[in-house]
This record gives sequence, structure tokens and C-alpha cells, in this order.
Amino acid sequence: MKRGLLSFIALCCFFFFFCPSNFILVQCDESETTATHVRLGSEKITHLHFFLHDILSGKKPTAVLVAKPNTTDQGPTPFGSLFVIDDILTEGPEPTNVIGNAQGMYVSSGQDLPSLVLGVDFGFTSGEYKGSSFTVFSRNPITNQERELAIVGGRDKFRMARGFAHLKTYYLNLTNGDAIIEYNVTLLHY
Ligand SMILES: *[C@@H]1O[C@H](CO)[C@@H](O)[C@H](O)[C@H]1NC(C)=O
Ligand SMILES: *[C@@H]1O[C@H](CO)[C@@H](O)[C@H](O)[C@H]1NC(C)=O
Ligand SMILES: *[C@@H]1O[C@H](CO)[C@@H](O)[C@H](O)[C@H]1NC(C)=O
Repeated sequence: MKRGLLSFIALCCFFFFFCPSNFILVQCDESETTATHVRLGSEKITHLHFFLHDILSGKKPTAVLVAKPNTTDQGPTPFGSLFVIDDILTEGPEPTNVIGNAQGMYVSSGQDLPSLVLGVDFGFTSGEYKGSSFTVFSRNPITNQERELAIVGGRDKFRMARGFAHLKTYYLNLTNGDAIIEYNVTLLHY
């Protein structure tokens, strides 16, 4: 039993240190002492540029408040509030030429300075990436004119994606919270 375990560890160490390439995954299976090699191809890098429209006002808002703490905190996004969004993504800053939508939620997470944490799936409905999406889970310090979000995954053409998005506020109405945000996205994916 003990010897079996030791040889298993030795085998794992062997594969770890003597892999012919750094791009090989080794799966050790204790019961069969077999190793499965999967060669990983080179990753693609994709840049995307679009505008996101986060509209809280009007008859058909794209961001709705679903929960809010019982505090006197005023403003469009009081600390502790939770919003669900289905924001359109467009080629330019005008709400025409829709290329996709961002669905998910954000919470207002800043005690002192207004800040959000986003859990949002950015999906595309036209063009080369139709049906594909990438996922953001990140802090978004909205009082900074420029900021960066972390991209943690993706679907379809963006499988295994990771990357970052560089954001600039293009338009913001401080009274009702409506905003148009410019996104420059860099993705590494298969
Ligand atoms: C909200 O807070 C106020 C003041 O603290 C309290 O009187 C009221 O009962 C609270 N309402 C709810 C629904 O908890
Ligand atoms: C995105 O990249 C373009 C071209 O480099 C640049 O003009 C624009 O300011 C960038 N926008 C953001 C939000 O980073
Ligand atoms: C900002 O929102 C308020 C409240 O909805 C509205 O009265 C005002 O016209 C808006 N400002 C701009 C510049 O659109």
C-alpha cells in the first residue's frame, strides 16, 4: 500500500520534471498508473471594441434594481443594492448597430466611493462571434474615468477565455445613473 503510493508520487514527479514540453498536461491515474498527454495548441488573441448601454431610466430600463438595503443612502446605486441587467452592446456610441447584449448582475459594493462588482456574460448576436460570449467577474470602480475588468471565461469561440477589458465612461447621467461605456477587450482563448 505504502510502496504503491510512493511509486505513484515518484511517477508524478517524473512526469512533472521530464515533460518534453511545457505545454503538456499530465494526468496521473493512481488505479491504472497511466498518463494521458494532451498537447495544447497555441492560443488566439482577440481584440474587441464596443459600447455598452446601461439604462436605468424610462419605461424599459436595461438595468433594474432587485434588492436594496434599508438605509437612507440616496443616489442611483446605493451601497448594498443589486441590479440585474440586459444591456445592449453596440458598434458605436449610438444605440444603433446592436451586436450583442450583456446579461447578468452587479452589486454596489463601495462603502465610501461608489464602486460595483460585476458578474456579467457578454454575448454576441451578430458577426463572427455570434453565439459566443465571454464572462466578466470583476470589481468596477465607476468613479474612475478609465478602469480595467477581469475576464474569467468564455463560451463557444471564446472557450477557456481569459483576459481583460479596458473601460472608459463615454456618457453618465449622475441623476438617473444612465451610462454608455466604451470597452476595449483583449482575450486569450482557443
Ligand atoms: C427600515 O429602517 C427603519 C429605520 O431604521 C425602520 O424603522 C423600519 O422598520 C425598517 N424597515 C424594514 C422593512 O426593515
Ligand atoms: C480603445 O482603443 C482605441 C484604439 O487604440 C482607443 O482609441 C480608445 O481610446 C480605446 N478605448 C478604451 C476604452 O480603452
Ligand atoms: C439626467 O437625468 C435626469 C433625470 O432623469 C433628466 O432630468 C436629465 O435631463 C438627464 N440629463 C441629461 C444630460 O440627459
